[in-house]
Amino acid sequence: MTQTAASLSTDASAAIADALNQAVAETTVTTMLAQNFHWNVKGMAFGPLHALFQDVYEDHFVAQDDLAERVRALNVHAEGTLAGMLKRSKVTEEEGVPSDKDMLKQMMHAQETLAATLAGAGELAAEHGDTLTEDLCIARGQTHEKFAWFMRSHLG
Ligand SMILES: [Fe+2]
Repeated sequence: MTQTAASLSTDASAAIADALNQAVAETTVTTMLAQNFHWNVKGMAFGPLHALFQDVYEDHFVAQDDLAERVRALNVHAEGTLAGMLKRSKVTEEEGVPSDKDMLKQMMHAQETLAATLAGAGELAAEHGDTLTEDLCIARGQTHEKFAWFMRSHLG
């Protein structure tokens, strides 16, 4: 049966919010990753890659807010600290300054990780009848798969 934030059990809301908080964390870590790459990318493809990484972080900055505010709509605490996000995130930062190709590879993996996290969160929401969270997760997952494709296409 379809549920809304008001009708979900406390346990269901907590479980869904936990999955969403992982997505918040990974989206935030990937925002920083994209900004780092936007600033530090070098080479003959500087122009388009500088712009592409900007497209990623601008999208992700808005998405962090949408995901965190859905957590709050479920009446659960939204992950709001960098330390907490780094603990939750399966997207990680690597040491050093990567080459342009390695930046694309790292960003492709980050996007694939996010797509998987959001597909899982959407499935969990669906199991609890939370259609509205499921819809948000599907939309975000699709965007991450689109960005994964953008990165993959640069790699040939
Ligand atoms: Fe900039």
